[in-house]
Amino acid sequence: MKKVLVIHGPNLNLLGQRQVEVYGSITLEGINQLLSGLARELKVEIETVQLNSEGEIVESIHNAKDRFNAIVINPGAYTHYSVAVRDAIASVGLPAVEVHLSNIYAREEFRHQSVIAGVAAGQISGFGPQSYLLGLRAAVALLEGPKK
Ligand code: DQA
Repeated sequence: MKKVLVIHGPNLNLLGQRQVEVYGSITLEGINQLLSGLARELKVEIETVQLNSEGEIVESIHNAKDRFNAIVINPGAYTHYSVAVRDAIASVGLPAVEVHLSNIYAREEFRHQSVIAGVAAGQISGFGPQSYLLGLRAAVALLEGPKK
């Protein structure tokens, strides 16, 4: 069975309490439950992890190399400036789908740039918890290859 690693970046442990007007009221646990349900439906295995520090995200991407087939990542604020996370994704060569709960292009200007997007297979931004589900579907579709 194909395996997908889902990485939730910094501050996402506070979902449900944090800026509810931007990120909604669902908790991280709630998102992980939705992801587990979809993974069963798509017949893939997933592992979810939430990491606040940049170094831990880099390490978790390194460790994914031989254990997973794809990555779904919400890099949180690191999206906008972490060349280290970008380089880690480029180094392991696994397809990665970048996801965001909010539409980063409709927010402050500093969020309009993603340094991750250039090494991701693609980006999904603005659909709330659905961004993760669409991201998982995208990752699985990539692993299945083109369909007519
Ligand atoms: C976010 C958007 C980022 O700009 C922000 O720093 C986050 C969450 C999102 O999911 O919408 O922490 O990645």
